[in-house]
Amino acid sequence: MTGVTVRVPAKLNLQLAVGPPRADGYHDLVTVFHAVSLFDEITAEPAGRDGVTVTGEGADRVPANRDNLALRAVAALRKAVTGAAGLGGVHITIAKRIPVAAGLAGGSADAAATLLACNELWGSGVSQARLLEIAARVGSDVAFALLGGTAVGRGRGERLTPALAPATQYQWVLAFADGHLSTPEVYAALDRLRAAEGAGGAGVPAEPDLDAALMSALRSGDARMVGRTLSNDLQPAALSLFPALRKTLASGLELGALGALVSGSGPTCVFLAASADRALDLAVSMSGAGVCRSVARVTGPVPGAAVLPRPR
Ligand code: C5P
Repeated sequence: MTGVTVRVPAKLNLQLAVGPPRADGYHDLVTVFHAVSLFDEITAEPAGRDGVTVTGEGADRVPANRDNLALRAVAALRKAVTGAAGLGGVHITIAKRIPVAAGLAGGSADAAATLLACNELWGSGVSQARLLEIAARVGSDVAFALLGGTAVGRGRGERLTPALAPATQYQWVLAFADGHLSTPEVYAALDRLRAAEGAGGAGVPAEPDLDAALMSALRSGDARMVGRTLSNDLQPAALSLFPALRKTLASGLELGALGALVSGSGPTCVFLAASADRALDLAVSMSGAGVCRSVARVTGPVPGAAVLPRPR
């Protein structure tokens, strides 16, 4: 077997502060990324020409053509290492467990894993720092999937600083929704909500700010404080497009979660639990409450994309 397999985690945003739209259509962000133990696996193998096969959770919603972020990652790495000989075609097989269009950066994770797998397959020896630069060009969340852990993201989210935090493992419950949200549509809905509020309304911060209370909670490893300081500027926009999520969030809080929020652009909802046992109780009660499609228990932070040992 000549393939290389990489395992890559989903991300949550513990804070997502969004500035006004920029001239290029993106928004400046300050975000706290947090990688959790829900993984996709991607395998890169030599092939006559580039291609992609997707299996698993939501596979039918992933484009299998050049729009696939993994194939864009192949092209970006190949371009970056031109000059190196023997970079043939590559077939990428994506085994999905991270739901698609769920606010968990699954597509970005697959792109990050593809960069790492092709770098290994081709023996191109591109450094981690250079891979992070290439990743940032493929998509806003791709660089973080390489890095993992907990990290502050600025710019479009691609300028990363690892957060210094103790080795606390947080216990999360993810509630997957029966439906999807498109990231550009959620950002556009936020712009509309803010415009309707007027310039003198709740106000758009010219420069989004890192939440000092969240960072202090993370430094102390105090789950209760972390739960109280979770925030997401995209949440009102996601709720306006997917009103049923209000009930999901309320239900998790009633059932004892330390904090609840929509993950990224949604529609996955995220709940912090006080312990592994409480997470199990919460997951069981939430699935019984009928307020989501399914639930998963995950922990974080976990490391970023990593090459798996080859089977012997
Ligand atoms: O970079 P990525 O392709 O993941 O972004 C998807 C879409 O999300 C962008 O086309 C843009 O509409 C929106 N976005 C944004 N500001 C960011 C990141 C994403 O407006 N910082």
